[in-house]
Amino acid sequence: MSHPTTDERPEGHGDALNLVRTAVADAPGPDAGAQRVVDLLHGRYAHYDWVGIYWVDPSGADLVLGPWIGPEATEHVRIPIGVGICGAAAESGRTEIVDDVNADPRYLSCFASTRSEIVVPIFADAMVVGEIDIDSSDPAAFDQTDANFLEEIAALLAPLRPRATAGA
Ligand code: SME
Repeated sequence: MSHPTTDERPEGHGDALNLVRTAVADAPGPDAGAQRVVDLLHGRYAHYDWVGIYWVDPSGADLVLGPWIGPEATEHVRIPIGVGICGAAAESGRTEIVDDVNADPRYLSCFASTRSEIVVPIFADAMVVGEIDIDSSDPAAFDQTDANFLEEIAALLAPLRPRATAGA
């Protein structure tokens, strides 16, 4: 079984998934829906200090920052696939959990306060189309429970990815 059952899920994750489903369904458009999802995650989980979505750009070479929420803007608004923890997750298609960002040579520093980070790929048609990136000011803030939860959130975000308009 790829996803936890209701009984295995930590209290609150099921509620959060339902809130995200509703937010996505009720949003006036994909950008607003994705923004609502990052806002919800940030508001519900104290260790999610900065929450953002990167989308793979049409060239397939870079990640481009989409909706985000947190105390500060990041300078890393475009990250080549393969660079940084974000680029590594996009390249491999695997969730990255980094307990101590300062001990990871791949880390692209954004905020002085960040101690740990999780990056969860978003898939569509078996390809990575984006990712959820969350920074925490707590060391080792993320575990497999966060990964499982955020992988379900990622599946709900996939339909919100930017798409080329017809004829473009
Ligand atoms: N730390 C990331 C870059 C993105 S910022 O955290 C928002 C990385 O190493 O790829």
